[in-house]
Amino acid sequence: MKPSIDPWGKGEVKDYGRLMEEFGLRPFDDFIKKLPDPPLLIRRGAVYAHRDFERIHSAIKSKKPFAMMTGLMPSGKFHLGHMMVAQQIVYYQSLGAHVFVCVADVEAYNVRRMPFDELRRTAIEEYLINYIALGLRPKSCTFYFQSAHTVPYYRLISMLPRRTTQNEFEAIYGTFDPQKLISVFYQIADILHPQLPDYLGPLPLVVPVGVDQDPHIRYTRDIASRINEFRFIPPSSTYHKFAKGLQGGKMSSSDPTSYIALTDTPEEARKKIMKHAFSGGRDTVEEHRKLGANLSVDVSYEYLYYLFEEDDRKMKKITEDYGSGKMLTGEVKKFLSEKLEKFLIRHREKREKAIDLVPKFLEK
Ligand code: TRP
Repeated sequence: MKPSIDPWGKGEVKDYGRLMEEFGLRPFDDFIKKLPDPPLLIRRGAVYAHRDFERIHSAIKSKKPFAMMTGLMPSGKFHLGHMMVAQQIVYYQSLGAHVFVCVADVEAYNVRRMPFDELRRTAIEEYLINYIALGLRPKSCTFYFQSAHTVPYYRLISMLPRRTTQNEFEAIYGTFDPQKLISVFYQIADILHPQLPDYLGPLPLVVPVGVDQDPHIRYTRDIASRINEFRFIPPSSTYHKFAKGLQGGKMSSSDPTSYIALTDTPEEARKKIMKHAFSGGRDTVEEHRKLGANLSVDVSYEYLYYLFEEDDRKMKKITEDYGSGKMLTGEVKKFLSEKLEKFLIRHREKREKAIDLVPKFLEK
């Protein structure tokens, strides 16, 4: 049977509910109110599921050490979808987590066939600088490249193959390609190595991911339980919705008309919204006034909801007015563009300041 999720695929998720059931994920709702001062995207439900988040929540509550780890494929422009992950990283760091941010350059070199020097440049200029501008701080942050980390990490990678079989690997990934083998073993070590005695030792650790990464999470947890040299605590995970691309599909660095980059100029961003953002508005004004917009497919509405309209009362008003047809698509787009323009102008200043901090992340 072909696995239903492919971490290297282009998969869009149609039915989050079904996926949760299939993989035994728990709904995240109950934690939203229990978390101190969560960022907008968590407050509004963009993080919808988890595995073992209880452990992270109790660490936060009792002020015990915990960690967060995530990895990035440095494949192009840093866009709004990446910002959703960055906001979570910055949030966990603000709650006291030690954060590990891994540049998956070994994976990208092998699976995407990109050269190491270009991957390094993109990781720093696109990802790291934007992370810093969004609030990431060097203290309690380990930012590393898969191709250039420290010895115990590589020792851990070398311990993984004997904990699994070709059969198991194929059952999970539907293939046994060497490029994927190496990427998976690196990723398992990414997720587990913070708990080695050489780093932080066993502790609760959360990995925020899109559900496409869940095969790796499950496999990591299984393999961790088979390594008795160390007392790994099974890593927890949370699952966020993918940011919708402008035309409604997935936001993807390989298609400039699908994303708003954090380095787009305000004018570019406005044009993209006006021209490409998929609208849930109706074909004619009369029809729109009568039926109202279909909010569940409207991309501008979604960006306001998860990223740009912090004020719940204003958001509720937009929901009512646009949903009832009182507000038109053009008005919603204009409102979003103005917010976005302001954000991009400020972000640009923050990026300039961020540059000075880059060495602090790389020298460790
Ligand atoms: N495979 C991930 C991706 O495609 C990147 C990655 C590498 C990662 N190591 C990780 C993600 C560890 C989470 C945790 O985006």
